[in-house]
Amino acid sequence: MGEVNKVFFKEYGDERGNLVVVEGEIDIPFTIKRLFYIFNSDSEVVRGQHANRKSEFILINIAGSCKIKVIGSDEEEQIFVLDQPHEGLYLPTMVWKDMYDFSPDSLLLVLSNEHYEPDEYIRNYTDFINEVRHE
Ligand code: TYD
Repeated sequence: MGEVNKVFFKEYGDERGNLVVVEGEIDIPFTIKRLFYIFNSDSEVVRGQHANRKSEFILINIAGSCKIKVIGSDEEEQIFVLDQPHEGLYLPTMVWKDMYDFSPDSLLLVLSNEHYEPDEYIRNYTDFINEVRHE
């Protein structure tokens, strides 16, 4: 399992338009079991605000832009702007994340290695800090 970092995908463009490819286990470090997408979030809204014990994620803002604030197990805060359809942000497990500053046209695609299991989400920041300190 790697660190939080940006990944850049192959983009094929010609006179017909553009096409971006993301293959599980090739362009990203896991097999894709789940995808979901977030859109129509107001610019004032903060989404996320959780960490995951099992799920890893790739976040791709396919249209528009948004920002992602992450706090990893080192407890350092990092902020990423996602505004390119061919770039993704990889999040390993045990990363606290906030998604915010959505543009009106933002379409945020999220890929994950796990099916949805509410119990593997940590939704309380103090619990998250306690768990990362005892890993
Ligand atoms: P939530 O985790 O609050 O979204 P965000 O990732 O923006 O913080 O999820 C919103 C709702 O969608 C909540 O009722 C749970 C449901 N949901 C699923 O059923 N499956 C999923 O894979 C996800 C991410 C959410």
